[in-house]
Amino acid sequence: MLQVRLSGDIWFMGFNDRRTHLFENIWPIPHGISYNSYLIIDEKIALIDTVERQFIDDYLDHIASLIGDRQVDYLVINHMEPDHSGALKALITKYPGVTLVGNKKTFQLVESYYLKPEKVVEVYDDDTLELGRNKLQFRTIPMVHWPETMVSYEVNSGILFAGDAFGSYGTLDGGIFDDEINLDFYEVEVMRYFTNIVGKYCAHTQRAIKKLADLEIRMIAATHGPVWRTDLNWVLSRYNKWSSYDMENGVVIVYGSMYGNTQKMAEVVARRLAERGIKNIRVYDASKTHASYIINDIFKYRGFIVGSCAYNNAIFPNVGTLLTTIEHMGVKNHLLGIFGNYSWNGGGVKSLAEFAEKMKWEQVYAPVEEKGALKVDTREELLRLADAMADKLASN
Ligand SMILES: Cc1cc2nc3c(=O)[nH]c(=O)nc-3n(C[C@H](O)[C@H](O)[C@H](O)COP(=O)(O)O)c2cc1C
Ligand SMILES: [Fe+2]
Ligand SMILES: [Fe+2]
Repeated sequence: MLQVRLSGDIWFMGFNDRRTHLFENIWPIPHGISYNSYLIIDEKIALIDTVERQFIDDYLDHIASLIGDRQVDYLVINHMEPDHSGALKALITKYPGVTLVGNKKTFQLVESYYLKPEKVVEVYDDDTLELGRNKLQFRTIPMVHWPETMVSYEVNSGILFAGDAFGSYGTLDGGIFDDEINLDFYEVEVMRYFTNIVGKYCAHTQRAIKKLADLEIRMIAATHGPVWRTDLNWVLSRYNKWSSYDMENGVVIVYGSMYGNTQKMAEVVARRLAERGIKNIRVYDASKTHASYIINDIFKYRGFIVGSCAYNNAIFPNVGTLLTTIEHMGVKNHLLGIFGNYSWNGGGVKSLAEFAEKMKWEQVYAPVEEKGALKVDTREELLRLADAMADKLASN
């Protein structure tokens, strides 16, 4: 538990989770994650979001340690996902006078998960809530990354309570502010949080960035990861870049292979790309590296070349999982190459071709397929596939 003052009346309360292996039971978090809640102690007392339910007891204790016998007047719900609303019922039980602040969609969700709240304030864009010295102003940012998502802006301190936007995987190991920590550690974790959780909603993120542009933001307080107060542009510029698919020249090569034949094909392509001067080449075995990490590089580099051996008339399942993830995220604007290996009637490349059809990415070259060991003619085809990718990247 970290309890840190952000400004005169505003407290950060963060809980580190080093136990959970998979966030949302899907994304690996080897460095853990923090759940951040915020408390404003003024003439009125307001909480902004709560925490995951495993922290309920500590959370209530820490609120009490800061406000004593006073009551919590408001709970602002920027985001209803259970990792932030987990303490909602416990909070209402302890502070029955609390008024929930949210939008129409928030309360529909509250009801479907927990209860029909008795005391609510329904807010619309630019409505404000006076707490005394502090004043919160609200704006919805739909689908970043849930329908009810909104932000709260404290107009005097310029603190933006951003919900999941600008959040990060990774616990807060002592430091909580961007200037207290070495951001190299968070480079991958902020991006993974974005690509894994928010990445499907790039267009909505772009809209949100524009919608918040007129606010004079002096601090960004997200529900996970560091609080940004010194170099806000570090995270803002990255969000802008990623959500606009502003990618670098580079190629991610992913393959699924049991006996190494498909892998050999991948190595041939990678080597040729390097000979053609491409420095950013990342080769991944889909059975080894989780999609959470591969997706990051797919958001970084425009080229994507994917290979699969045939497996029971279809794609190798671990490659299939990655492609399903990419498809569900609606990743845009890539250059694509496909290849594969088989023994009898194939299946891998056929499924890859269906993926190509669905994604509508530009396919730089015809599919390259080999039966068993790699032979001279197919090797030549792989070189041509790599050349086509290099040419397209150069002309972009
Ligand atoms: C469980 C299993 C299922 C397979 N299913 C197919 C298939 O449906 N069609 C096919 O042409 N080859 C199939 N194969 C053969 C492989 O695709 C072939 O051996 C290929 O060369 C393997 O490539 P790799 O060395 O990259 O693993 C299968 C192999 C295994 C072990
Ligand atoms: Fe969320
Ligand atoms: Fe979250």
